[in-house]
Amino acid sequence: MRSLINILDLSVEELSELIATAKDIIAHPEAYQEKCAHKKLATLFFEPSTRTRLSFEAAMLELGGSVIGFSEASSSSASKGESMADTAKIISCYADIMAIRHPREGAPFVASQAASAPVINAGDGGHNHPTQTLADLLTISREMGRLDNLTIGLCGDLKYGRTVHSLVEAMSRYSGIKFVFISPKELKMPGFIRYNVLEKLGIPYTEVASLEEAIGSLDVLYMTRIQRERFDDPWEYERLKDSYVLDVEKMKLAKKEMCVLHPLPRVNEISVKVDEDPRAAYFRQALNGKFMRMALILKLLEEAKQNPVKPKLDLSELETDRVCQNPKCISQVEQELPQLFRCTDKAADIHRCIYCEQRA
Ligand code: NCD
Repeated sequence: MRSLINILDLSVEELSELIATAKDIIAHPEAYQEKCAHKKLATLFFEPSTRTRLSFEAAMLELGGSVIGFSEASSSSASKGESMADTAKIISCYADIMAIRHPREGAPFVASQAASAPVINAGDGGHNHPTQTLADLLTISREMGRLDNLTIGLCGDLKYGRTVHSLVEAMSRYSGIKFVFISPKELKMPGFIRYNVLEKLGIPYTEVASLEEAIGSLDVLYMTRIQRERFDDPWEYERLKDSYVLDVEKMKLAKKEMCVLHPLPRVNEISVKVDEDPRAAYFRQALNGKFMRMALILKLLEEAKQNPVKPKLDLSELETDRVCQNPKCISQVEQELPQLFRCTDKAADIHRCIYCEQRA
């Protein structure tokens, strides 16, 4: 039995299989109508969501299964102080698979360690969002006809935007990928992606401040919202919120075959006039998310049936002599969770929290 916590939990071959399944679902939806009959998905959303939660629910319903769950923390026992691990154990009694969104980084990972059903990370704080990446990959594959040899620009809040972290991790495994990171200096791509992924793998990237200057070189432009809810200082958000607005004028500087993605919701970083441009793929991307979630649910349930045993965390390679300093990490609020670190770079003596991946 497996969970999906980080997009790297899936190999490139598995991503190709999921994309192939999603394309088959699009072509033959009737063949999938009963695949999850009598199965239940629990959606545990401790943080607001429209697309992700409803697309998970629509995905399960279109597979013939049913859905239970909650859409805000206040209607769950977490508001009474229940731990993530206990919640996950309880939900395992009622559902065959669960999707968890949580404001604390590492919460779905903690759930996956305790649950006896597969857990899907539906977004944890500013950390990761692997199923959004599945939607992004199907969209790039359908719009561009390939997932390799692309220059990908990511624009906006690269610090707190969990979707861009998972997308960079995923795309780094395809050949001929170049990244252009377009952000204010306060919202740059964090170290756990730059050092842990890009520099380790020798993937080329540049960091720039101007969207106008970068747009002409891009095959894919991934716009993001400035993540107001993750800012400690509301004035800092006010100052940065309108850093980038993609409009018709800027689209004139882009390649004819570029595509524009956005995980949505947008605030005002893409002018509604751009929606009419055939290169605007973000609404198609939202639909693709449902098909990829269908493919993922099928895969994880099938694996759980074939092999109900859950892999155990190998404690022998973990360190316990540090304390996580990230105020948004799940380990900051759940006192019983052991502090656990992994050495990710021996030469540079870098140790990262296993829940949130921040440096100790
Ligand atoms: C994103 C999220 O929640 O991380 N949206 C989504 O899942 N489709 C992006 C965002 O909220 O800005």
